[in-house]
Amino acid sequence: MQHPDYPLLARQLASLLDDSDWLTNSAQTCAFIMQEIPDLNWAGFYLQCRPEVLCLGSFQGKPACHPIPFSKGVCGKAARERTTQRVDDVFAVADHIACDADSRAELVVPIIVNAELWGVLDLDSPIPARFSDVDQKGIERLIEVFIAHSKLVINLTTTS
Ligand code: SME
Repeated sequence: MQHPDYPLLARQLASLLDDSDWLTNSAQTCAFIMQEIPDLNWAGFYLQCRPEVLCLGSFQGKPACHPIPFSKGVCGKAARERTTQRVDDVFAVADHIACDADSRAELVVPIIVNAELWGVLDLDSPIPARFSDVDQKGIERLIEVFIAHSKLVINLTTTS
């Protein structure tokens, strides 16, 4: 499959984003990704809303699982280890959290701000091994654009 033109997508996303509002920018970013990147069935953000807990943020697709502790799932692993998780076959991941039975491949990119985990971007595809190394680097670049345009503050509602 031919890859999307990620450098072009990065420039288009930069011109689409507001110059600070993270909520607007997160909504625009996942809508843009869903529109421009083929074969996705879900694209969205999870935010760290309590210590080591991810809450569902802006997304495109079916209603999804919420909340997700750092200890669980592909999103939890990305948050815990602060590294991108690329899964070719979600059925092969024991603690994968199945929000949509159609999902087969997943890409989760952590979003780090001031050395803290702000949240993650999660992409799902119904096609096994949908995400290549080129896709991973391209999506990571889109997230850098999102971070550069957004005032991201980690807002933990409780410390208990
Ligand atoms: N599959 C994810 C959960 C989030 S949904 O895919 C939207 C996981 O295992 O963390």
